[in-house]
Amino acid sequence: MEPFKYHVFVCTQEKPDGAPCCAARGAAPVLDALRAEIRNADLDDDVQVTTCGSIGLCERGPNMIVYPEGVWYSGVTIEDVRQIVSDHLGSGKPVARLANTNAGALKAEISENRRKAIAAMRARAASQTES
Ligand code: FES
Repeated sequence: MEPFKYHVFVCTQEKPDGAPCCAARGAAPVLDALRAEIRNADLDDDVQVTTCGSIGLCERGPNMIVYPEGVWYSGVTIEDVRQIVSDHLGSGKPVARLANTNAGALKAEISENRRKAIAAMRARAASQTES
């Protein structure tokens, strides 16, 4: 069941200690622009926007995923939002220049970032135990 034509998940995760994250890379103004552009395009009844936590591409944020196709957009700027709304959400044509198209590479990048995040957490825990 899909109550909306499109469901857009926008990562707004903040991370501590200067770690790369979508919040630090401008997710909030991109989210605001997305909501405004959807409203301007009169697509409110067709598009659901939901904020979410990290999707594992923290160094390339802001990131968003558009369903039902499962298009992963990275490095989205305020200027890009208008094209995503008009071309993808309005006309059904994903914006190729912003989309991650290699699922294997995407999964490998996310897995590597997960390994790095776990290692960093363990290092922080170890340093707190020592002090
Ligand atoms: S913080 Fe957004 S993908 Fe990790």
